[in-house]
Amino acid sequence: MKNPYAVETVRIKKCVNEAPDVRTLLLDKKMDFNPGQFVMVSLLGFGESAISISSYPDLQITFRRAGNVTNALFEKCTGDEIGLRGPFGKPYPLNEIAGKHILLASGGCGIAPIRSLLKYYLLNENSFSGASLFFGARNPSMILYKNELKEWRKSFEVHLTVDQANSEWEGNVGVVSLLLEEFKLPANAAAVVCGPSIMIKSVAETLGKKGMPESDMIVSLERNMRCGLGKCGRCNIAEKFVCLDGPNFRWSDIKWRV
Ligand SMILES: Cc1cc2nc3c(=O)[nH]c(=O)nc-3n(C[C@H](O)[C@H](O)[C@H](O)COP(=O)(O)OP(=O)(O)OC[C@H]3O[C@@H](n4cnc5c(N)ncnc54)[C@H](O)[C@@H]3O)c2cc1C
Ligand code: FES
Repeated sequence: MKNPYAVETVRIKKCVNEAPDVRTLLLDKKMDFNPGQFVMVSLLGFGESAISISSYPDLQITFRRAGNVTNALFEKCTGDEIGLRGPFGKPYPLNEIAGKHILLASGGCGIAPIRSLLKYYLLNENSFSGASLFFGARNPSMILYKNELKEWRKSFEVHLTVDQANSEWEGNVGVVSLLLEEFKLPANAAAVVCGPSIMIKSVAETLGKKGMPESDMIVSLERNMRCGLGKCGRCNIAEKFVCLDGPNFRWSDIKWRV
């Protein structure tokens, strides 16, 4: 049996600067995973952090410089090696959302796991009735995956918004939930939401007002993690472990804990 604590050394195949302080790494490793799962990334002398898998079926991670590990990770690029464990966590409930219109709402780096689901969607378009992506960034320079948006728009709607516009920005300004207020919710839709807690709450409230049952809203939560295995108790929210029972939860099951 594979030791879940064993760290594997993995080479970076490619690195892409997505935005100031945000980078995507393509890793030279075949991994059996599903969208919504995460890996534990480590660098000797710096520590280990949970990072979502941001692609499918290839293994990519997208991260923002936030502290110890991610600052050191930002120094690594093509050809360098990093430590990896995983995959961990429950994936998005693909069987439950199959056949539905999937509404994907993301804020900031929350688009990373959502991109994995979008890539799955592109490979399995016939299994869904449609998709719409809503993505909110702090400002236009923080919009991630810019060079993929044109391709995505051929297959599903993409709605972008920023908190603060600059002189070149001609798109929406305001939070994602404001954009959603104007959106006509397709029948038989399910939502997948990832971003800061305040954004998750306001998106869930807006979708609720539009008639979406809370059990059809899947939200991703972040907590500090150590083992990733439900053993250390670092990530628990009441009786739930974010690493084991999550990070993806039904809003109806978790809303009073967020
Ligand atoms: C399931 C899951 C998926 C994730 N996916 C991603 C992803 O795809 N991309 C991504 O960028 N991040 C992701 N994260 C978040 C990432 O794991 C955290 O940001 C992680 O803390 C980064 O590690 P670090 O060592 O770089 O930063 P840390 O050193 O842990 O610092 C992170 C933040 O905490 C603050 N901090 C640190 N120590 C303290 C302290 N003692 N007291 C108060 N504040 C403190 C820092 O100032 C900083 O703002 C995910 C988290 C989870 C749980
Ligand atoms: S990270 Fe150890 S219990 Fe979740």
